[in-house]
Amino acid sequence: MGFFNKKKSNQNKNSGKVLAFLNQKGGVGKTTMAFNTAHALASSGKRVLCLDMDPQSNLSLLCGVDTDESDKPTIHQLLINSIKELKPLHAGALLHDVIEKGEYVDILPAGQELSGFELSVAGISMPRQLILKKFLEESALLERYDYVIIDGPPTLGLLVVNIMCAAHGLLVPFRPDEFSRKGLGHFYEVLSNIEDMGVGATPQVVAHIPNLVDLRRKIESEDLSRIQAELEEEFGGGCVTEPFFNRAPLVRSQAERKSVYEFQAKEFLALQGQFDSIAQKINNWNHSESLS
Ligand SMILES: Nc1ncnc2c1ncn2[C@@H]1O[C@H](COP(=O)(O)OP(=O)(O)OP(=O)(O)O)[C@@H](O)[C@H]1O
Ligand SMILES: [Mg+2]
Repeated sequence: MGFFNKKKSNQNKNSGKVLAFLNQKGGVGKTTMAFNTAHALASSGKRVLCLDMDPQSNLSLLCGVDTDESDKPTIHQLLINSIKELKPLHAGALLHDVIEKGEYVDILPAGQELSGFELSVAGISMPRQLILKKFLEESALLERYDYVIIDGPPTLGLLVVNIMCAAHGLLVPFRPDEFSRKGLGHFYEVLSNIEDMGVGATPQVVAHIPNLVDLRRKIESEDLSRIQAELEEEFGGGCVTEPFFNRAPLVRSQAERKSVYEFQAKEFLALQGQFDSIAQKINNWNHSESLS
């Protein structure tokens, strides 16, 4: 077995797909990539739901929902409500009230209380790693959306294990340095352990996305080439996208809680093109999975 493990798909034909942006390392661009890719898919005509699974709730905020400022229920309550054994913790929260409709994409928000998820479900007897998967199946969200785009937290705990068990495809943003190579190795170990548990197939890796790359730094450029070669050996050619450089327009657009598609200036066009090609990669992957 190589340094990274290749994964089989758990595709369910004729329905929407769950895609997750994951990396246990913080600040690599999971939220930035999830948000803009969701908009890229929406602009290619797909129905998209953003699902925030990070207690930091950055994706919710980008989508215009400030859960710190409201006592509206979030994904946490929906997950708790989906567990019969936790009846005393159930509270009135209907899926269609929790989902906020957006102009381009909808959002199922998270809040700070999601950090208590692991503790809340500690004593239940059903498989704790399958709570999100079961919720997604029972909610029939995949009949309403072509893609559910999950933003994960920077951990490898129960929330991420739930995301790995629920997702059909993974997108892994990373910064090209020696630490991230080790981090990615650990990440795929966890995925491999989940597969060994036999709780169902694990997701396919759709793309690795080098982010915040500075090719003027020789060491970074060398690290990127090395990591890219290793990933391609394990996951096949084309599994690493074109790198994203450190781009002020991305920060600017996020400060305004907008995707790069909402700006016409020239500096945004290249970024739009990059997210378009990620969306195209996802659509091609989805298409070839449906055929296989
Ligand atoms: N290519 C880029 N150019 C410039 N800034 C970027 C780029 N990608 C991400 N950022 C900025 O870096 C910061 C971290 O990005 P982001 O929040 O998307 O990372 P994350 O992996 O979701 O972090 P966390 O693990 O804390 O959730 C943000 O302020 C974001 O605006
Ligand atoms: Mg984030």
